[in-house]
Amino acid sequence: MDLLVVGSGFFGLTIAERAAAAGRKVTVIDRRPHIGGNAYSEAESQTGIEVHRYGAHLFHTSNPTVWEYVNRFTTFTNYVHRVYTTHKGVVFPMPVNLGTINQFFQAAYTPDQARALVREQAGEFDVKTAQNFEEKGIALVGRPLFEAFFRDYTAKQWQTDPHKLSGDIVSRLPVRYTYDNRYFNDTWEGLPTDGYTAWLERMADHDNIEVKLGVDYFDASQPLNKSATVGQVPVVYTGPVDRYFDYAEGALSWRTLDFEQEVLDTADFQGTSVMNYPDLDVPYTRIHEFKHFHPERKDIFNGDKTVIMREFSRFANRDDEPYYPVNTPADRDGLLAYRELAKGENDVHFGGRLGTYQYLDMHMAIGSALSMWRNQFSGESD
Ligand code: FDA
Repeated sequence: MDLLVVGSGFFGLTIAERAAAAGRKVTVIDRRPHIGGNAYSEAESQTGIEVHRYGAHLFHTSNPTVWEYVNRFTTFTNYVHRVYTTHKGVVFPMPVNLGTINQFFQAAYTPDQARALVREQAGEFDVKTAQNFEEKGIALVGRPLFEAFFRDYTAKQWQTDPHKLSGDIVSRLPVRYTYDNRYFNDTWEGLPTDGYTAWLERMADHDNIEVKLGVDYFDASQPLNKSATVGQVPVVYTGPVDRYFDYAEGALSWRTLDFEQEVLDTADFQGTSVMNYPDLDVPYTRIHEFKHFHPERKDIFNGDKTVIMREFSRFANRDDEPYYPVNTPADRDGLLAYRELAKGENDVHFGGRLGTYQYLDMHMAIGSALSMWRNQFSGESD
């Protein structure tokens, strides 16, 4: 073996694929029973509908290198992501745009009129002196829109009163003064035609790659554990950086999600793939209805059942799946301390969202793995 990759998410598989293509023998281990990390998806058994087990994943990128690379393993559908939100029993388009504003104020404002209205409403607080998330949010979009679409939704995501949330969690809130309600602004967008898992499996399908599932890097009874491999073989580690150092500098904090999946005896539950619920009287933040991600799969799409998933958000405990970095000042200090420790490790390369404690979209995880490969392994540079 020339390289050990810990974690079979997009970061780990991109490194493994590049290394294998360059003739190196790679072993990939993952503690889960399946490959793919959080992008993994599977067919729901009653309906055949593809379900994203760790939350909805939409691929989008404006990076030509990443786009060219991912197209080696999959084609993409022409799916365009749009999100709606149900506030006080009425459905509005998201992100907040001219359509949302005019529906909310029962008006027909032009872009300039809407901008002037929001500016006037936002004058209640100054962004520079805002004391917390609530004041900052009002300073950005004005009280009416903030309270309807951002305040309680964010409070539910963080399980924290908006007065107590730091203003640092937002630098801007998305408002568009056109009717464009495409969720992403990237050059390319779509879903893998035959699913995420087929794409991920193709990345790992190489004679030089061996994948071992159900193997935890910190389980001393496994041959490929940390103390048996560090210093013996180059390691790319994509698990949580604090876990690697046994939490020596404290645990970094994360938010996690709980998912409640249900098969319903109806052909179409909500008419769209994602509906947000920004009000406090609804405990979940969103409902995903997976068949709407693939309307082109006609037989499955037209079936008389559907699969929905309600999403609940909360702070993660150590045993929960870490999803979104909380990034408090203490977390930032801890991360710096872990980066220092990482420099002292012998040929261990930390990458991916867990290894760097950063939220990374899939295209970012793939792009940063391609850079790591070029800069730290291939002998080429950017
Ligand atoms: P990832 O977490 O996928 O993989 C890490 C792997 O390491 C896991 O398989 C884990 O089991 C393994 N591992 C950890 N510790 C280990 C140990 N001790 N031993 C062995 N293995 C270990 N992106 C996007 O572009 N569009 C989207 O719509 C979304 N949506 C989305 C929703 C939600 C809820 C989340 C949390 C994330 C997204 N993402 C996303 C981001 C996407 O999930 C992310 O870019 C990839 O998961 C990053 O891949 P990584 O390989 O970095 O981590």
